[in-house]
Parts: sequence; C-alpha cells; structure tokens
Amino acid sequence: RKEGYRYFMEKEIYEQPRVLADILTGRLGEQAVRLDELEADWLRPISSVTLCACGTSYHAALTGSYLLERLARVPARVEIASEFRYREPVLDPNGLFVVISQSGETADTLEAIKLAKAQGLATLALCNVDNSSIVREAERTLLLRAGIEKGVASTKAFSAQVLTLWLLALYWGQARAVLSGERHARELTALRAVLNVMQVQPRVHERLHRLSKRYLHGHGFFFIGRDLFYPLALEGALKLKEISYLHAEGDPAGEMKHDPIALADAELFTIALMARSTFYEKVKSNVEELSARDATLIAITTEDFELADDIIQIRPYDHPMLEFFEMLVVVQLLAMEIAIRLGNDVDMPRNLAKSVTVE
Ligand code: F6R
Repeated sequence: RKEGYRYFMEKEIYEQPRVLADILTGRLGEQAVRLDELEADWLRPISSVTLCACGTSYHAALTGSYLLERLARVPARVEIASEFRYREPVLDPNGLFVVISQSGETADTLEAIKLAKAQGLATLALCNVDNSSIVREAERTLLLRAGIEKGVASTKAFSAQVLTLWLLALYWGQARAVLSGERHARELTALRAVLNVMQVQPRVHERLHRLSKRYLHGHGFFFIGRDLFYPLALEGALKLKEISYLHAEGDPAGEMKHDPIALADAELFTIALMARSTFYEKVKSNVEELSARDATLIAITTEDFELADDIIQIRPYDHPMLEFFEMLVVVQLLAMEIAIRLGNDVDMPRNLAKSVTVE
C-alpha cells in the first residue's frame, strides 16, 4: 500500500498535488471562489476571527491568520489550544472561532471549540475526518479532503489546511468586497497554478537526498523566514525535529538579533527561507548577519546567494503562496531525507501519536 514509496510519509508528500486538486474541485470558478459549506450571509456579520489548533495544525492556523487579514481584512488572532482554554480568554461575541485539526480528536482543540461555543461564538472546523468529535461540535465544517494520512508526521493534511484557509480568506474577501478586481484576479490565477507547484521535482528530491548527509551532526537547525514564511519556518523545524530527533527551531528572521543569533556558529545549520516575493532584501540582511557569525547557511531560494554554503534552488513565482507551497515540499523532503539517513522510522517517530486524545 506504499505503492513503491519507502514510507507513507513519502507517498503522502508525493500525493499533495492530487489532494490540492480535490480541494479545488467545484470551488474554483472563472470569476470567484465558491464554498458551498458556507454562505456569504453567514460570514458578513462576523467581525473577527480566532484560529485555534495544536502542532502542525497550529502552523496552518498561523498561516491562515496572515491570509485572512490580507485577503478578507478581518482581524485575526491565533491560539495554541492547550494555552487558550485555561487562560480565561476574552472573545469577541460577534467573532468566528475556527478550529483546525487533521484527526478531529485532539483533546485541547475539542475543548477549545466547546468553550467558544459556550460563549456564543459562531464556529467552523477545518478537519480531515468526517464525523469526528470536533466536526460534531462545530456549527460548520470544511472537510480537508486530504484522504487518510498514515504518517504520524503530517504533510498532506497541512497543505490541505493551508489551501483551504486560502480559499476561505478569498471567499470571505469576496463576501466583504474588500479586494480590488486586480488583486482578486491575481489570487485566482495563483490558485490555478498551485497543483503544479506541489509536484515533487526529481531534481530537487535528488539534491535534498545528497545534501542530507552533510547535516546529520551539529548543534541543530534554525529555520528562519518572514511573513508567511515564518509559520513555514516553524513547520520546517517541527517536521525535522519530530522525525530526526535533532534539535531545530523556527524563528522570524527579523527576530534574530533579539536572541537566537547568540547560538550562531559553524555547527548551527541555518535554513533560510528566502522568498523572492516577500521582503527578500530584509531576509537577506538577516541572513548576512548570521553568516558574519560563521553560521552554516542553507538558502532555499530562486536567487544566487554567494554567502550560502548550500543553495536549494526553487522555481520562481511572483505570488507568495506559490513560493510557500514550493518551499513546503522542500522542507518536508529535507526532514524526511535527514531522518531516513539517521535510520529512523519516519512513519512512526518515537514518543508521538497520530491522534492526541488526552491533554
Ligand atoms: C506533526 C503532527 C502534530 C499534530 C498535532 C495536532 O506532524 O502531526 O503536531 O499536528 O498533534 O493534531 P490534529 O491536527 O489531529 O489536531
């Protein structure tokens, strides 16, 4: 059932274009995004959105908060479910509470939606499992359509979450008529291109396979990025950590000088997410500072960057979300290749479970 792949994780990474195609089916019109599960009238009175989740799903939530503010112009905040439920949160009674969960059974996320419901908020679940506990609690659901995910490390469910959030943001932006015609058209064009972007390129996979042997020892990994590429940095670090058991952290590139740079040395591998579309020059100057401290630099970028020890060349796109999905495949494969070289079972990492039903 692994269909020739070494691990379910690998199969699921390669499956992503098909998953994204399923998500877009029936939703991507000539002129607009359609989401039959929602109505514009349901969304229109909503004045803010809170996104709540755990782990990888939390990284999707964070990505979604950038998209919702940009495309729908609704105030968006993000919460880690295990923190949220105990801190006596003050919620906007006219707000929408969105929970994101692959399994639909994560205990903290389930309790969070119950709490929001009890306070009278509208609720929406983004979930991969129909009839799960979280779906049963939610007023509305957008099913993720990712198919069963077997690898404990979430890959295709994450890309499904992010794409669904992008659709939600655009749909909401349409309902509120906040996007210029030109901006809206640009989003639709990018959505049409996303399937191709997630197709694994053999050249890239091969390069990551070869590079991975250089990174098996060291003090650890920094993943850095800005804007949408900050949640992606967090996700790259999480993926690597959970299956390789090496230390990794994700940081906003601009935050370097406030603390993480203290760790920089040649044994620290910095994976810089250098998106052409998004504050490239700013990220570059953050990376230059790390390089001056002798950090070993691995740049994921379209550009030539002479300071990098290794460059993982990606294809150029003028839309940030296309760069996001292109880089997502790279960080997923990088984590997998490093973990396989270390001899780990990437489908069943130690100490982790696919569904976390206790808090
Ligand atoms: C990481 C991973 C976990 C889950 C987290 C939430 O690859 O799988 O961090 O993302 O336990 O699970 P769900 O999405 O099922 O609520």
